[in-house]
Amino acid sequence: MNEILQSALGPASPQAAAITRLWWLMFWVSTAVFLIVAGALVFAVIWGVRAARRQRNVSMREIEADSDTILTGAVAAGAATTVFILFVLLVASVRTGRAIGSSPSPGGPPSGAKLPNAVSIDVTGHQFWWEVEYEDATPSRRVTTANEIHVPVGRPVVLKVTSRDVIHSFWVPNLQGKRDLVPGYTTAVWLQADRPAVYRGQCAEFCGRQHAHMAFELVAEPGDQFERWLEAERQPAAEPVGDAESRGRDVLLNSRCVLCHTVRGTRATARVGPDLTHVARRDKIAAGTLPNARGHLAGWVVNAQQIKPGSQMPPNILPADDLQALIAYLESLK
Ligand code: CUA
Repeated sequence: MNEILQSALGPASPQAAAITRLWWLMFWVSTAVFLIVAGALVFAVIWGVRAARRQRNVSMREIEADSDTILTGAVAAGAATTVFILFVLLVASVRTGRAIGSSPSPGGPPSGAKLPNAVSIDVTGHQFWWEVEYEDATPSRRVTTANEIHVPVGRPVVLKVTSRDVIHSFWVPNLQGKRDLVPGYTTAVWLQADRPAVYRGQCAEFCGRQHAHMAFELVAEPGDQFERWLEAERQPAAEPVGDAESRGRDVLLNSRCVLCHTVRGTRATARVGPDLTHVARRDKIAAGTLPNARGHLAGWVVNAQQIKPGSQMPPNILPADDLQALIAYLESLK
């Protein structure tokens, strides 16, 4: 699927389109104000020079009387125009705020309300990655993944965002404005992708040393493709097919990996770090930092601190054979 340039000016959702319209309105109004003020400044200089020349023939008092009338009128007109422009921008801002805060269907319910066909996703910020959980009335059908959010195109999506540690900010510029993730407090963000693509998102609130490496991908895909993806994510981890994968699983289950990660279907059930049940299906690792390739994966397991100093992932010095087996197993977790 094509990757879209991360830009707040390339809207691909009704919410982002509203923000972009507001941005352009403010841009053109500011440009017009700048040109008018600069023009008035040039005019004042020219007018002043002419008045100075005329001084030889006319008395100073006449010039002052003349300019007083003009000044009073100009200041009054300027103040009135400023108030009017600020009022127009205020109304436009409030309208945009309402448009992006409510659900995407016209006249739909406000933020947080239920929409029958909406997809509900819990997003939790961590230093420095994103936990993503798809809600379902049946607990066993809930899906947990990380750093990659799949949504169906053209359907409203409600993201219930919160944080596990410090304040982060959820931002997919092409689809919605920023939303702070506050520990212990959940808020709802609505969005609806207009067309299939991979949109890049990132943390937009400084949250520590690896704030810049706290990105994610939002994959908008056709409805049936999304359902297939979700159904595959619901499955437990694939059983090892070969000797290497089998040994890799033993390495994982007998090392400290299990203290932080979950691989559904095994006894690794910790939730400190990203869920690895289907890690091989994801496009990137380390929260949008590296492509999900064998070499990067091995480098990450062995010494994540060199790639993301300050992240929670500790170095893991494993014998070469064990490491190869572990990577083979992780790569089999499709
Ligand atoms: Cu999380 Cu910045």
